[in-house]
Amino acid sequence: MTVRRLAEVQPDSFAFSPENEAWVDAIIAKYPQGRQASAVISLLWRAQKQNGYWLPRPAIEAVAEKLGMPYIRVLEIATFYSMFNLSPVGEHFVQLCGTTPCLLAGSDGIKSVLKNRIGEPGVVTADGKFSWNEVECLGACCNAPMVQINDDYFEDLTPDNFAKLLDDLAAGRPVTAGSQTGRVSSEPAGGLTALVSFYGVNGRSGPYCAKEAPSIGDPAAAQAELAGQPKGPAEPGHERLKQEEALSSGKPEASASANDQTYN
Ligand code: FES
Repeated sequence: MTVRRLAEVQPDSFAFSPENEAWVDAIIAKYPQGRQASAVISLLWRAQKQNGYWLPRPAIEAVAEKLGMPYIRVLEIATFYSMFNLSPVGEHFVQLCGTTPCLLAGSDGIKSVLKNRIGEPGVVTADGKFSWNEVECLGACCNAPMVQINDDYFEDLTPDNFAKLLDDLAAGRPVTAGSQTGRVSSEPAGGLTALVSFYGVNGRSGPYCAKEAPSIGDPAAAQAELAGQPKGPAEPGHERLKQEEALSSGKPEASASANDQTYN
């Protein structure tokens, strides 16, 4: 667990930018009169993003003042949730999930890469590019082990693909969020094994659905494969897509196939 203490060095002041001030007012207006405190997490989150992904004391005070809450109540929230950083973080802030499913799937190997490449948790590299911390389950256990970097999840990590990911970030090269092994969503690592006739072996219904020869992560190749296959009876996914397209264009099609009833 991380130590939940305010940073020793604090800025003198914090104020929401005009754009964020407008956003904050719109969020507060969503709550009934007298319940504005319910917006506290949204406001803290916005303040953190504005301030380079960490919350200084003046930002916590500004949120308290904005919501008419005692400072200590807002401080309690900011210090409770690990999503709020209480001291400066690197440009690429890595949150490593160390909870049981990720641990069993090899998060220790990812942690070793972090220690070797970045250093101890909570320490920002000299160039300001990286820092990391270990957190509890981030809800992507199906694709363990995983990390969150700023706003994005990176999943199906190995020490090798994670080291390359850090190299790419350090060099400013584009990276792809999500699975680093190309699996679609959280389907089985070896490919889809159920409802294949509906979703296709590449896990994509509609025109990108491929019945054979998966081209995972490559919709154009999957579409070409599908075009080359003999035409069978219409698949329910295709039928449904056609109906949705017809509905959105204002021309409803004739009724769904009998198979559609099974899946609706
Ligand atoms: S245990 Fe790691 S995301 Fe859930």
